[in-house]
Amino acid sequence: MRADVEFDHYLLSAAADPHPEVARLREQCPVAHTDAHDGYWVLSTYDNVWAAALDTATFSSSSGASIPPSGLGIPLIPLEVDPPRHTGYRRVLGRYLLSKALARFEEPIRAHVRGAIDTFAPKGSCDISTELLFPMATYALGLVFGLPAERGPELEQIATSLIRLGDTSAAMRLYTVFAEVIADRKANPADDLPSGLVSSTVGGVALTDEEIVLCCFTIFGAGLETVASAGAHMLAILAEHPADREVLCAEPTRIPQAVEELLRLVSPLPAMSRTATKDVVVGDHQISAGERVLLMWIAANRDPEVFADPGRLNFDRDKASVAFGVGPHRCIGAHLARLELRIMLEELLNTMPDYRITDPDQVVRFAGAARGVASMPISFTASSPSRGR
Ligand code: HEM
Repeated sequence: MRADVEFDHYLLSAAADPHPEVARLREQCPVAHTDAHDGYWVLSTYDNVWAAALDTATFSSSSGASIPPSGLGIPLIPLEVDPPRHTGYRRVLGRYLLSKALARFEEPIRAHVRGAIDTFAPKGSCDISTELLFPMATYALGLVFGLPAERGPELEQIATSLIRLGDTSAAMRLYTVFAEVIADRKANPADDLPSGLVSSTVGGVALTDEEIVLCCFTIFGAGLETVASAGAHMLAILAEHPADREVLCAEPTRIPQAVEELLRLVSPLPAMSRTATKDVVVGDHQISAGERVLLMWIAANRDPEVFADPGRLNFDRDKASVAFGVGPHRCIGAHLARLELRIMLEELLNTMPDYRITDPDQVVRFAGAARGVASMPISFTASSPSRGR
């Protein structure tokens, strides 16, 4: 029997506090069906989400990994490709996105973050989303793609109109940017992701230009608003927990643990979807072949069966969250995201440990795949540009 509920995860992504509704769903109907967006099943316990994410033969990504769909009309790579081909793409991309490959970006990202902080530290207030978080995420992606920093604002503008407004002309412009980059790297190979893709093979065959552009497009789209919005949510939580914030100011070595716990509490990318390839029973419910299934990372991350007192900020948890997903499609940008968010917290807590959210009602959120935050004004004790650094 179908357990129909009124639920729309997409709209919920713009809510200031989606957690009570998500918890209600998990408690009352852990395998639910909603008619929103032409109908989909919703899995919300940690065990169900985990099992479905691992079972790519039954829960496929190749008919789309998001609800509503990307609108591009072609599968995003590697997000909307199933194993075994997916494994080949991951191998190629991993060379440029795993932590060893990213170590050389730590100093440039830190210098960029410090530069941004220097411009607003003397003012005593800023919009942390537009003045630090989005520029930082764009800059970090630019390093991976070997793009000059001056292109940052242009790329940020294209990507945000695509993500926030679903502007299809922006999709075409981003596509064109990467097509040009790839043509350039064929003639002038460099030590960056596009050059690596140009010279790589999957299944013994060189990647086509379209595959390469789609990889770049997906990585850029997946790595911008997730990190920028995650940063805003994390700062908002720390502002509400002054004692925990003081712990991090006094012991910055605990920031990496704090990043993991804050990501669990936030779940910046709350859910992704799959399509059942055959009839399958989950809990007491029969999901039919062809039906779409939403894996709610945000619900799994606060499942009390797995995380004791799940709403509490606790830097000492030992159980891994699914904020970056799990299984073959687990976020390939997780190392870059962690690097950026760690540096951002280290630098901000060092320079403006007393920051506060100026007015929670002024935070501008937007609905989408991620829990989007477009604008978040903060206030703090003004300091001279180089104080404490
Ligand atoms: C805090 C920031 C981020 C969060 C919370 C996040 C979350 C996730 C999640 C939950 C998935 C799994 C999707 C699924 O199973 O269908 C995923 C996949 C992915 N992410 Fe991230 N992500 C973040 C940052 C990034 C960054 C910085 C990049 C790029 C550098 C990136 C690129 C990707 C790609 C390409 C995939 C698809 C992987 C695959 O299908 O094999 N993400 N991300």
